[in-house]
Amino acid sequence: MAIDAKAKALKAAGENVIGFGAGEPDFPTPEHIVEAAARATHNSAYHRYTPAAGLPELRSAIASKTKRDSAYDVEAQQVVVSNGGKQALYNACMAIVDPGDEVILPAPYWVSYPDMIRLAGGTMVAVETTEATGFRATLDQLEKASSAKTKALMFTSPSNPTGSVYPPDEVEAIARWCHDHGIWIITDEIYEHLVFGDHSFSSMPVLVPEVADRCIVVNGVAKAYAMTGWRVGWSIAPPDVTKKMISLQSHTTSNVSNVAQVAALAAVSGDLDGARKMRAAFDRRRQTIVKLLNDIEGVDCYDPEGAFYAFPSVKALFGRTITGVTIESSLDLADVVLGEAKVAFVPGEGFGAPGYARFSYALGDDDLEEGIGRIARLLAST
Ligand SMILES: Cc1ncc(COP(=O)(O)O)c(C=O)c1O
Repeated sequence: MAIDAKAKALKAAGENVIGFGAGEPDFPTPEHIVEAAARATHNSAYHRYTPAAGLPELRSAIASKTKRDSAYDVEAQQVVVSNGGKQALYNACMAIVDPGDEVILPAPYWVSYPDMIRLAGGTMVAVETTEATGFRATLDQLEKASSAKTKALMFTSPSNPTGSVYPPDEVEAIARWCHDHGIWIITDEIYEHLVFGDHSFSSMPVLVPEVADRCIVVNGVAKAYAMTGWRVGWSIAPPDVTKKMISLQSHTTSNVSNVAQVAALAAVSGDLDGARKMRAAFDRRRQTIVKLLNDIEGVDCYDPEGAFYAFPSVKALFGRTITGVTIESSLDLADVVLGEAKVAFVPGEGFGAPGYARFSYALGDDDLEEGIGRIARLLAST
């Protein structure tokens, strides 16, 4: 947040800042989605409260989309439409995590998970991973992290911030391990359509159907349809948990904006052409950024398999003095690079990964090359 505030202040002061911070596609929301929303604004039915769990037609379209995209067969009644995947994840934590419960969280993790676990009264048990295992937790590590208090595993593949994707056999083994230990699964599938090369996305309750009655799938339109600002996500959970989540959402926020829900309906009912085009662009940029980062001495970048983030280690730069500042952390580096090269990236500390840096490559190709070039020049000159 500190780096983000500084980047914004520099931009406001007229500096040409190149930002690798944003966790959102740089593409516009597809036109047919925007048009559906525009039409919805004139429908007076949408000017009123609607069911807290979401528009029935959207819940049903999400169930169909889930069957189409990941082969998970669910009822519309299991779907709760929320204000982004974020609220769905929060609802999920509140519904199943009780004070004293432990939740296993592979690190590096998305920044909001630890706070959601804490807000529900739970304790996070982080499982550290590095590029040596492709930033993937092993069964052995999960076994060591578990205890009699373990309530749930929070699982994300493809991952933010590392871009790692678990292969199907590992997804299956982890799901089976959770099932055998009676551990709940909260699985965040928001990057399902952003997987590169020969890697593939797989959904836990599809590979191990027995976990379905202890599994909450979270997803949303933000990343696949370039709709971060529309704020529509959802959960798919067993009926009793769904009931709790609807009740919580009904007393906290009520229904998601109807206009945004109609936009999401157009998104999930339509084809995946837009997502495919974005994926092709991200794939190209991924190859460029990984190469450019690895060309910098002291930066070591793992080749991500999904999402739109590169997550290099910058540990080898620690101890170096750049423009009078001795770099002792990723945060120090982010601060100096922003101040001197006017390039913003997110230091790894917030993701539970000090020594790393997150670069979102959801930005134009020219900016990408210019931004990494500036960092390379800064480091080469010191
Ligand atoms: C892993 C992960 N899950 C969930 C979200 C939340 O997405 P939404 O915008 O739908 O709330 C994000 C957003 O960055 C994310 O990276």
